[in-house]
Amino acid sequence: MAIKINKMIKLLSIIGARPQIIKAAALSRAIRNEFTDKIEEIIVHTGQHYDENMSKVFFEELKIPMPNYNLNVGSGKHGEQSAKMITGVEKILLKENPNYIVLYGDTNSTLAGAVAASKINIPIVHIESGLRSFNKKMPEEINRIICDHCSSYLFSPTQTGFKNLINEGFKKSNKPYHIDNPGIFNYGDIMYDNSIYFSDIAENKSKILEKLKLKNKDFLLATVHRDYNTDNDPALIEILQSFNYLTKKYKNEIVFPIHPRTLQKIKSQYANSHIAEFLNNNLIHKIAPVSFFDMILLEKHARLILTDSGGVQKEAYFFNKPCIILRPETEWLEILETKKAILVSSSFKEISNAYTTLIESSNSVFPKIFGNGNAAELICKELLINS
Ligand code: UD1
Ligand code: UDP
Repeated sequence: MAIKINKMIKLLSIIGARPQIIKAAALSRAIRNEFTDKIEEIIVHTGQHYDENMSKVFFEELKIPMPNYNLNVGSGKHGEQSAKMITGVEKILLKENPNYIVLYGDTNSTLAGAVAASKINIPIVHIESGLRSFNKKMPEEINRIICDHCSSYLFSPTQTGFKNLINEGFKKSNKPYHIDNPGIFNYGDIMYDNSIYFSDIAENKSKILEKLKLKNKDFLLATVHRDYNTDNDPALIEILQSFNYLTKKYKNEIVFPIHPRTLQKIKSQYANSHIAEFLNNNLIHKIAPVSFFDMILLEKHARLILTDSGGVQKEAYFFNKPCIILRPETEWLEILETKKAILVSSSFKEISNAYTTLIESSNSVFPKIFGNGNAAELICKELLINS
């Protein structure tokens, strides 16, 4: 599709948490490769994630332009953290006056961008729109509903997300799109763009398998960070108990890059016998969060993945891996429908049963449900056509 446009448009992207930094890589890459003469991107980092291995590492590795602004808000309670972000984002929006603000996913950084921009009439582009867990106790569910309902462009990554929008009253509308007449689209998932793009690069660059002495060995990969798993002692203990069980019973090694939130909780539970066993279990590689290339390589070579992460459960699917989803529900229903992933919440019994079911399953069909790996490009084109 040839795009005839004379003026540049200015996008202001808000990032803050690890997955948003990774998602932003896809859009920045599309702009750099195809639209430098049509799109200017300003990047604002809220500072929600700030450890080197939760933020800086991704800019260098994924060649994301350094942020033009960093609000350095750091950690805090939801209200306190979001309020600081809203204040900071509003000031920058007033100064930069972009054509669009681009918001990713469902974190407090997303919410802050949505509140700040909608009040001063800057059109919101929501990438990863329409996803619902139908569990409003999840802070992310509140963030994504609010963001969707004040956006002008809603880019859903899946058919389910698109249908959720229709069910909430969004319509396939005609241009011009604006907050009261938003456009809804499904161009696929920009995380899939990244997994395809970086898959071979990661094979060449990452040395994580050698470092962990896992080359040509079977292993499982695990991540845990959701508040209902980390901030709920019985849940975290049962999950770690099940990791101990999977290593003992099946002689599996497990690679567990530990999110800082989870590490804090584990450290506060030394006295518990399952936690003590977990800490002494040499078959569990308890490592700091890894870079995206290392993560991709671990995902590609793992036998099975256990996770409560939205991004990691999808990447398991992208790389044709069975996945035990450590959550009571998921926004990615298509993955469940393939029967290559099972929801287990945090129950020890459910986790061990799901392991047996998935390992014994002969179903290795992973239909293409996340687009064609060009979502970022299609999103840019849609914005340009309408500007
Ligand atoms: C946030 C998002 C969640 C997303 C996740 C990705 C919200 C409400 N939650 O959850 O949707 O899935 O990011 O990883 O926005 N911490 C550090 N160093 C850091 C970052 C965090 O030590 O660089 C610790 C702090 O103690 C902090 C805790 O982790 O209080 C939680 O961080 P926060 O950003 O509030 O939430 P996440 O659990 O990371
Ligand atoms: N990830 C990473 N290193 C890690 C753990 C995760 O690079 O140690 C990547 C992972 O590959 C995925 C993204 O971080 O692309 C998922 O982010 P996270 O699990 O923090 O958040 P969620 O997707 O649940 O919001």
